[in-house]
Amino acid sequence: MGDDFKLVTINEILNKKNKEKITMLTAYDYATAMIAEEAGIDMVLVGDSLGMVVQGQDSTLKVTVEDMVYHSKIVSRGLKNSFLVTDMPYLSYNIDIKDSLYNAGKIIQEGNAQAVKIEGGKRSIDTIKRIIDIEIPVVGHLGLTPQSVNMMGGFKLQGKSKYEADKIYEDAVSLEKAGVFCIVLEGIPEELGKAITKAVNIPTIGIGAGRYTDGQVLVIHDMLGLNTKVPKFVKKYLNGRELLVNSVKEYLDEVKENKFPAQEHIYAVKE
Ligand code: KIV
Repeated sequence: MGDDFKLVTINEILNKKNKEKITMLTAYDYATAMIAEEAGIDMVLVGDSLGMVVQGQDSTLKVTVEDMVYHSKIVSRGLKNSFLVTDMPYLSYNIDIKDSLYNAGKIIQEGNAQAVKIEGGKRSIDTIKRIIDIEIPVVGHLGLTPQSVNMMGGFKLQGKSKYEADKIYEDAVSLEKAGVFCIVLEGIPEELGKAITKAVNIPTIGIGAGRYTDGQVLVIHDMLGLNTKVPKFVKKYLNGRELLVNSVKEYLDEVKENKFPAQEHIYAVKE
């Protein structure tokens, strides 16, 4: 291990609160993991958003523990320093405590994750406490929780009314008490993101939660512009889809015009 070896741990994440912003990005395979790692990201999330951006489904509800373990494992091979968090998918927790513990353990043991992320506040507290009891760090997730898409009536901003905002705020306080080491806040008004960030001593990571959370997370396919439709809170840092389609078109043209392969791509024998 060289002097400049930087391995992000749960302690570093906690220590960044009120000092420096925490960066988090999703990754789903070896290539996206290496991109995030090389850029120096603090935390990589293998999100169950893979159901939508990798598998092409219209929600995250059909993603399985096996899917999460597979993607977590291949992402972990691309990481050296970044802290790896993997989502517990729908139905893998909150049904039966024994199953929840087993599934969380499997994501750590086989998926090589360092922590699991669980959606929900009070309704998930008992499960979260038990998972922490078996020494697995947990990240909470409040606000627009995609696994609740049917209850929310779509992927909609949460916490708009005082009643809803109070509920999310109380959930955040309860999650901190339960022992989560950070909380993802998704799709809520900026004022609520700010109030929660001030109220809790653990870091908050926002996605569509405004400017005042302790860190930010985005879906890598969204910020690289690989998806056609993205929510308002996404900034596209690249027109990835256009660039990739144009590159593939160029390849097709060159094959048809006999320009590819060229001399430098050819194996020749002397005789
Ligand atoms: O599944 C996911 O990618 C997530 C992020 C959007 C926070 O939960």
